[in-house]
Amino acid sequence: METPRREDLPAAEDAGATILVVDDEPELCRALSKLLGRNGYEVITAGNGEEALELLRRQEVDLVLSDLQMPRMGGVELLKAGRVISPGTEFVIITGHGTIEVAVDAIKRGAYDFVEKPFSTATTLKVVRKALEKQRLRAENRQLRRRLREIQGNSDIIGKSAVMRQTVETARQVANSSATVLLTGESGTGKEVFAGAIHAWSDRADRVMVRVSCAALPETLLEAELFGYEKGAFTGAVARRKGRFEAAHRGTLFLDEVGEMSPTTQVKLLRVLQENVIERLGGNEPIPVDVRIIAATNADLAAMVAAGRFREDLYYRLNVINLELPALRRRGEDVILLADHFLQKYNDKNRKNLQGFTPEAVEVMMRYAWPGNVRELENALERAVVLSKDELVGVSALPQSVVAGRQRFDAVTIPVGTTLRDAEMQLIEATLESSGGDKETAANILGIAARTIYRKLQ
Ligand SMILES: Nc1ncnc2c1ncn2[C@@H]1O[C@H](COP(=O)(O)OP(=O)(O)OP(=O)(O)O)[C@@H](O)[C@H]1O
Ligand SMILES: [Mg+2]
Repeated sequence: METPRREDLPAAEDAGATILVVDDEPELCRALSKLLGRNGYEVITAGNGEEALELLRRQEVDLVLSDLQMPRMGGVELLKAGRVISPGTEFVIITGHGTIEVAVDAIKRGAYDFVEKPFSTATTLKVVRKALEKQRLRAENRQLRRRLREIQGNSDIIGKSAVMRQTVETARQVANSSATVLLTGESGTGKEVFAGAIHAWSDRADRVMVRVSCAALPETLLEAELFGYEKGAFTGAVARRKGRFEAAHRGTLFLDEVGEMSPTTQVKLLRVLQENVIERLGGNEPIPVDVRIIAATNADLAAMVAAGRFREDLYYRLNVINLELPALRRRGEDVILLADHFLQKYNDKNRKNLQGFTPEAVEVMMRYAWPGNVRELENALERAVVLSKDELVGVSALPQSVVAGRQRFDAVTIPVGTTLRDAEMQLIEATLESSGGDKETAANILGIAARTIYRKLQ
């Protein structure tokens, strides 16, 4: 039996890599297939560019080895379209005599390398091996970055209720587009947390997210902050200054409390969103900016539009994707989860070691309506951790407003997208709460046996 020469053996990691050979000369396809197949690669072939693209659509290909000159679709056109269809695939171009310039152009367009005809076995294998190594590194890199984003992004958002999971899912889906997102919801529901998460999950994550609160500043200062100014633009503009839009270039701009923006500033913002250029105050040179906008408001923007206090055209520009963050009272099962999270957070901060809550404290927290949502809960927990002396946080450590406060549940709102199972759980939990945790009573109200409740609660 013939043992292959050492240099003919692919590096171990290469084994099984799929290579697509594209050439209009069947003879050449065959020769390359044989050579690569003999060296442990999976080889598929295409006789023209269209066929090759079809294969790229249908299956995973690590490397395309394509002839430069083919009728209809040449190697460079194949490269251009192929990179869009299959961004993870590496390309090597095979060139004839006197086409070096075109080959160099192909490399500029993202080909890894080229091989000149007639090619030697050794050179071809060497280029293939190196191209595959790069392809593998790129794939690993992408995977690591994705994992990192998931880990970073996940740690901030606590919540396992159906409505929260749904919101996180949508946020993840929209993160990678550049679409403008409008975050709405009551105060303290986590709009800023979500803005940060969407940025962290997006492919702009390695750039900055710049936050501007539209409520904090009067009109002219807000405009100076957003668009920057030239020296002498107004009294006090002693030197030119870049604005937040420029600072956020290639990244994300988080426009918080966007409902507070004055009509004049609204017009200017609309123009930026339409044209992707800004002008500094006192300047007349348009500066292109590539910025992803995330806006947030706890106002009812649609009602403001109807009342003529917010521009309709701007509203539609901002509201491309709307994420409505649910109030805490609509996701009761998250209350204790969040409370535990904040207990740990403030344990660490205050060097305390509280182990949990008394059953009465849990009940109080579950019954309360939390009009200030997660922020109110967090503040209550910070206070409770500081005040508690025992092992467990008790009712006495909770703010009086919470203990005596408004109760939630007399109705459950179940958003579309909730599974029947989750909807059932929400109704059972709400009924249990309204009957003071008495499972017999709750079972009677629900028209089921008490043991069914016990079973479902497990
Ligand atoms: N799902 C969540 N998981 C963990 N912490 C959260 C969550 N939602 C909100 N928080 C915390 O609650 C507090 C308020 O959240 P955030 O500032 O994002 O609210 P907001 O919707 O922007 O409120 P406002 O409208 O008042 O500005 C923050 O400290 C935040 O860390
Ligand atoms: Mg906020």
